[in-house]
Amino acid sequence: MIEHLLEFIGRTHIVFLHFPIALIVVAAVVELCRAFAAKGDGYKPSGAGALMIIFALLGTVASVVTGLVHGFDGGQRVDLHRILGIASGVLMVATWFAMLSAMKEGAKNGTAFLVLLCVSTATIGAAGHFGGELTHGDGYLTKPLGRMVGIEPGVETEGEPRSDAETLGVSQQAVDVFNNAVLPILERSCVECHGAEEAEEDIRLDTIAFVLDRRVQTVRRGDPRNSEMVFRIELPHGDPDIMPPEEDGEPLTEGEIGVIRDWIESLGG
Ligand code: HEC
Repeated sequence: MIEHLLEFIGRTHIVFLHFPIALIVVAAVVELCRAFAAKGDGYKPSGAGALMIIFALLGTVASVVTGLVHGFDGGQRVDLHRILGIASGVLMVATWFAMLSAMKEGAKNGTAFLVLLCVSTATIGAAGHFGGELTHGDGYLTKPLGRMVGIEPGVETEGEPRSDAETLGVSQQAVDVFNNAVLPILERSCVECHGAEEAEEDIRLDTIAFVLDRRVQTVRRGDPRNSEMVFRIELPHGDPDIMPPEEDGEPLTEGEIGVIRDWIESLGG
C-alpha cells in the first residue's frame, strides 16, 4: 500500500512543477520592470511580487520533494535534472530571504534580491527544460524549428513503404485504430529509438507499414502472444530486455499494453 501512495505522491510532481516556473518568470519580469522604472532609487519588492515568490517557493519545495519521491532510477539526464531541481529549491529559499531584507532595508539590498531572483529563474527554467527532455525526448521543442530551416533531417516520407489498408492487407478500421490509439503510444515511448533517425535493430515503429513489416516480425498479425513487441513491453520491471529500456523511459501502463494487444488481435480476422 505504502508503495502505491509513494507512487501517487511521486506522480504529483507533474502537477506541482508548472507553478513555480510560471510564477517565478512573472515575478522576475514584474520586479525587474519596477526596479527599472524606479531607476534603482528606492526600489522595494512589491506585495504582488512577494506573493508570487512565496507561492513559487512553495511550488518549488513541493516539486523537489515529489521529484525525489518520483524516481532515483538512473540515467545522466535524470541526474542533471535532479541537481538543477535541488539547486532551484536552495536558490528559492535564498531569494525569499533576500526579498525579506530588501523589503525591510530597501534599495541597497534590492540589487542582491534581483540578482538572486534572476539566477533562480534561470535555474528553474533549466531544471524544467531538462525535465521536459526527460519526458518528451531530446529536442522535442526545437526539432520542428530545425526541420523548418533544414538543419534537422526531416522525417522522410519518400521511398517509404505505403501505409494504406489495401497494400497492407488489413482493414481500414485497423489502420485508423493504429493511427489514433497505437501510434501515439509508440511515438511517446519507442520512436525516439525505433524511428527514421535511429532505427535500433533495424526496427522502425513510426508507421503502420513498418510495424507490420513481415521481414522483422515485430508483430504477428492476430497473435499478440507470439509478437516480439508484446513480449518486450510486458516484461517485468527491471528485466534487461524490457522496452523501452528501463533507463530510457517508463514501462507502458497496463492500459497501453491492452490497446496494443487488442489491435494486434484484431489483425487476425
Ligand atoms: C532508448 C532506446 C529504445 C527505446 C525507447 C525503445 N527501444 Fe526497442 N530496442 C532498443 C535497442 C538498443 C534494441 C536492441 C537490443 C535488444 O534487443 O534489447 C531494441 C530492440 C527491440 C526489439 C527486439 C528486436 C529483435 O528482433 O530482437 C523490439 C521488438 C523492440 N525493441 C520494441 C520496442 C518497443 C515496442 C518500444 C516502445 C515501447 C521500444 N522498443 C523502445 C532501443 C530502444
